[in-house]
Amino acid sequence: MKIDGKAYRTIWREGDAVVVIDQTRLPFRLETLRLTDVEATAVAIETMVVRGAPLIGATAAYGMALGMAGDASDGGLERAFQRLIRTRPTAINLHWALERMRTRLAELAPGERAGAAWRLAASIADEDVAINAGIGRNGLRLIEDLAAGKADGEPVHILTHCNAGWLATVDWGTATAPIYMAHEAGIAVHVWVDETRPRNQGAFLTAYELGHHGVPHTVIADNTGGHLMQHGMVDCVIVGTDRTTAHGDVANKIGTYLKALAAADNGVPFYVALPTPTIDRTIADGIKEIPIEQRGGAEVSEVTGRCADGRLETVRIVADGSPVANYAFDVTPARLVTALITERGVVPASAEGIASLWAG
Ligand code: MRU
Repeated sequence: MKIDGKAYRTIWREGDAVVVIDQTRLPFRLETLRLTDVEATAVAIETMVVRGAPLIGATAAYGMALGMAGDASDGGLERAFQRLIRTRPTAINLHWALERMRTRLAELAPGERAGAAWRLAASIADEDVAINAGIGRNGLRLIEDLAAGKADGEPVHILTHCNAGWLATVDWGTATAPIYMAHEAGIAVHVWVDETRPRNQGAFLTAYELGHHGVPHTVIADNTGGHLMQHGMVDCVIVGTDRTTAHGDVANKIGTYLKALAAADNGVPFYVALPTPTIDRTIADGIKEIPIEQRGGAEVSEVTGRCADGRLETVRIVADGSPVANYAFDVTPARLVTALITERGVVPASAEGIASLWAG
């Protein structure tokens, strides 16, 4: 997608390095970071220089390529895999991309692995872009239907949580792909952007990318959505997911579940956008079985912002001595999800709906 007219992806290869947009610096600075080995790649995922389930998967795939460029032995392959797999626990994309890389590379002689790893990582990244475009086309129809019920010029109001935008993927985003396509098709859309404490992915990242692409939006405090829904100010919710079970439960950024409850209470459609390769068919009950990442307390007790003189500063916002807890994700049960928007079609969030994606 575009930043001030220039098209970007979130990750690309430059010679022997992988370049990523440093998302810990946005929205205040647009900076890139060169990753040259497995350890730097793993740290970039852990510290959320790159984040968002699809981008975590693509970055890990490129991390394997960096690993193979350094040590393509069987031991090197296993060490790269083991270092990258433990970076973040909830997003299934990480497992999916790493398993795919390991399986394919293990079949090859060590001398062939580096070249093959670069090619496979690039194809995982390209595949992500194509899948998200498919999600966009399928989700666009839902927005078109909502727009058809509007008076001329009245926008479709869409609420989103966290950042499931292009910054969370290689391009397009998942939740934002239908929004970008609607915007480009000339449909008036307006996005309510949950700020998404504690890390502010909504206020920092979703607002940044929508703003730089010219999509009308408004940032709201996390607890505002229910009020807006009660007053008919939200036409639908679209969020992303880090892992979807075989029965349609979805894990996403902490607070997603509360939005789904409010949407159900107010009859607002609650859509989840996802690439089908990231459905975890080994898991049925999301609440019991999806591992929920717990992150450091400083993400809750501190916040970073830009001072009037342009300096970035981190300040404490919690009473001294108070303990904090930082659960990074929650699980929304399938019964609260109106439909899943995938690149293969829009289906009910149920075992039957998911199975139908591969039928015929
Ligand atoms: O902790 P993050 O920023 O990686 O969490 C991201 C989300 O929760 C996204 O909604 C999810 O990964 C889907 S991204 C298309």
